[in-house]
Amino acid sequence: MALTGLKENALKLILFGGKGGVGKTTCASSTGLYLAKDFKTLLISTDPAHSLSDSLGEVVGSEIKEIKGIKNLSALEISAEKALSKFKIKYKAEIRKILGTSTYLDEEDIDSIFDLPIPGIDEVMGFKTIVDLIEEGKFDKYIVDTAPTGHALRLLTLPELLDDWIKVMAKMRWKYRYMVETFSGKYNPDEGDDFLVEMKKTVNRIEGLLRDDKASEFIAVTIPEDMAILETERLVKNLNKYGLKVKQLVVNNVLELRDCEFCRERSNAQEEYIKQIRRKFSQLKTTIIPLQPREVKGTRALNNFKEFLFQ
Ligand SMILES: Nc1ncnc2c1ncn2[C@@H]1O[C@H](COP(=O)(O)OP(=O)(O)O)[C@@H](O)[C@H]1O
Ligand SMILES: [Mg+2]
Repeated sequence: MALTGLKENALKLILFGGKGGVGKTTCASSTGLYLAKDFKTLLISTDPAHSLSDSLGEVVGSEIKEIKGIKNLSALEISAEKALSKFKIKYKAEIRKILGTSTYLDEEDIDSIFDLPIPGIDEVMGFKTIVDLIEEGKFDKYIVDTAPTGHALRLLTLPELLDDWIKVMAKMRWKYRYMVETFSGKYNPDEGDDFLVEMKKTVNRIEGLLRDDKASEFIAVTIPEDMAILETERLVKNLNKYGLKVKQLVVNNVLELRDCEFCRERSNAQEEYIKQIRRKFSQLKTTIIPLQPREVKGTRALNNFKEFLFQ
């Protein structure tokens, strides 16, 4: 079997996720080559250990860059940390306003709160960058090479986390507003309120996009090994829980050689795991990719890999 449906026009966002080293980046890059034949495609990495450059054999950075020699393919590495510091610079005044008007904190306290890490907000900001790009609409397809499982999951649960944070801030605002209204009879929303509304909209946009199964698809990548299968099970289960239904699974690094004792032994073990995968993920469409004799690096190797992925 092969991956299907990725050329549907409504499908904008395609995410590849799984354990470290199973082939996420390789799948994402090959899919980029495949889709770029018909669509303006942007390949995005959110893995802090970016490796699109290594995979494509061309330097990719924090600005969108066209990939040489491949028409319609561009790439971008998003740094969640950078996205967060941009966010903090942009909204510093608004956040300070909320804290300053709604609490009894002094300047110094506010500064220390402002520098506290909000769990996961850097990644939300990374994701916000993606949603902004999609809404800008310069590309037809956005392929995301995500960070290993834990990270990817955290990313997807973040809208909720951020939502809780917004609620706390909104509550503070509400009290402040109540006081102002009580004393002066009139309350004019300020930039603190605008900020909360904006953040809430961002959360809704991210959630809306991820949960729209016509517009986005998360493809799980695994290998026929025990640990990887267990991790894939958790990943698929959690994604489903967050309303992101996984439909397709890539099983990479499958050994096909059986002409030596060593290969037979490995291959037998893999066969058992592949049976297990078919049983455990019977609801998913599975694509098997053979182990290649060499690393899959550079456009030639990726083009070859692409044939297995899409046949
Ligand atoms: N089917 C395969 N056969 C041989 N090597 C592969 C295969 N798939 C991926 N690789 C290689 O394995 C390494 C890890 O793949 P990568 O896509 O970077 O994994 P991930 O992004 O999940 O960490 C890379 O060096 C890649 O070239
Ligand atoms: Mg990778």
